[in-house]
Amino acid sequence: MIFSLSFTLLFSLFSTLLLLHSNAFPLHYHNHPLHHHHSRFATHNYRDALSKSILFFEGQRSGKLLSNQRISWRKDSALSDGSAMHVDLVGGYYDAGDNVKFGFPMAFTTTMLSWSVIEFGGLMKSELQNAREAIRWGTDYLLKATVHPNIIYVQVGDAKKDHACWERPEDMDTPRSVFKIDANNPGSEVAAETAAALAAASLVFRRSDPVYSKILVRRAIRVFQFADKYRGAYSNSLKHVVCPFYCDYSGYLDELLWGAAWLHKATKNPMYLNYIQVNGHILGAAQFDNTFGWDNKHVGARILLSKEFLIQKVQSLHDYKGHADNFICSLIPGASFSASQYTPGGLLFKMNDSNMQYVTSTSFLLLTYAKYLTMSHMVVNCGGTTVTPKRLRTIAKKQVDYLLGDNPVKMSYMVGYGPRYPRRIHHRGSSLPSIAVHPGKIQCSAGFSVMNSQSPNPNVLVGAVVGGPDLHDRFPDERSDYEQSEPATYINAPLVGSLAYLAHSFGQL
Ligand SMILES: *[C@@H]1O[C@H](CO)[C@@H](O)[C@H](O)[C@H]1NC(C)=O
Repeated sequence: MIFSLSFTLLFSLFSTLLLLHSNAFPLHYHNHPLHHHHSRFATHNYRDALSKSILFFEGQRSGKLLSNQRISWRKDSALSDGSAMHVDLVGGYYDAGDNVKFGFPMAFTTTMLSWSVIEFGGLMKSELQNAREAIRWGTDYLLKATVHPNIIYVQVGDAKKDHACWERPEDMDTPRSVFKIDANNPGSEVAAETAAALAAASLVFRRSDPVYSKILVRRAIRVFQFADKYRGAYSNSLKHVVCPFYCDYSGYLDELLWGAAWLHKATKNPMYLNYIQVNGHILGAAQFDNTFGWDNKHVGARILLSKEFLIQKVQSLHDYKGHADNFICSLIPGASFSASQYTPGGLLFKMNDSNMQYVTSTSFLLLTYAKYLTMSHMVVNCGGTTVTPKRLRTIAKKQVDYLLGDNPVKMSYMVGYGPRYPRRIHHRGSSLPSIAVHPGKIQCSAGFSVMNSQSPNPNVLVGAVVGGPDLHDRFPDERSDYEQSEPATYINAPLVGSLAYLAHSFGQL
């Protein structure tokens, strides 16, 4: 469960008032002998981190597991999901440390895993196949959730009842209620994000599995039509179900723009370009914002559309270069318009709850934009300061390095990476004994004695990245602290792309 109260608006106002100090990106390499050499040498084993970041998704799998399942303490679970509405909804991902399948963040996770592969899959080597399988686990489920026209099954599980138990997914006995949106109860944000995920994934499989790719893109087209034709927020019709868990705070216009951008990329049908041109302004193309996550896609859409101008030379999307630049400038310490807060140790800090999701999503956008700028021989102009792609990469690398352990408490926020990492993550399956060790059922409330204990989790959820440190770089490693200690699929998804880039560019030690 991640309660993400989105304080986007308030935060934007607040953060513009924040002054950035020159220590926003201090170096933490004083102990590292390689610091004085040029950093073509890795300070981290990015390839190891990449493998682990993808492996994590196997620990989040719901449904019937495959024989090659590598996280072996996990077993089959939720095998009759969907039966409450007589549909097959077996599969998909648990979002975080609980046992609910939330369609909105699952779709966003799938979109970001796909974008990671689209930009940096060519650098993944042997991990490319694992990344594709992680995507397919998401898209197979999204195809089931969209099997009926004008209906999307957007959630399986009752979040309040689920969260009242501390149970392994394999033991789960809380109601597997199914919730849907349809023409009378629309949900344009979850529908358009689902369309984005299917469209993005269709690009991933275009060569490796063209049949699957066509299925995905056809479904994406149909789902986007539904999202756009029946407009509304699922947070209205399903308010008591999805709020405050994955309540849509930023509205659905950002997802319509983002969805259309992905449909444009996947189909090249001029209809979508036309849609973006006609509706872009209404959909908030230029609105100031620099938060990118499962709720808010504005800046993601800007970076994505800037590529169409920079690389594909689509002149009508000229403005998106400026929109993307404004976002980038808001992240640069010391630049005019900078409007971002950093911890004293140098971590981008946006929210108390699951802050690391913004670190990974923003780093991915920085590396992706740097790629587009390099390919088009462009730079960013931040009110007189020229910002090069190299600078963007340096900032992104420092964020990832902080995440991997270059921080004041020397903690890797990726479980199983490095000598020091979170031992008590807020995750039911990881914290309770495995089925192999304890085959007997652990009842709903019996698990809370473990949750409240200080013992380390017995099952290491390798690759899981948690919410991370607080504004002062502190991390208590407390299991009950879901804000800082809970992993989530959408924290990892954009990190996969960044690690592929870093593994390629900063070789091995
Ligand atoms: C974030 O945490 C700090 C304490 O570290 C607290 O003072 C502040 O109110 C919290 N902010 C929100 C929005 O919860």
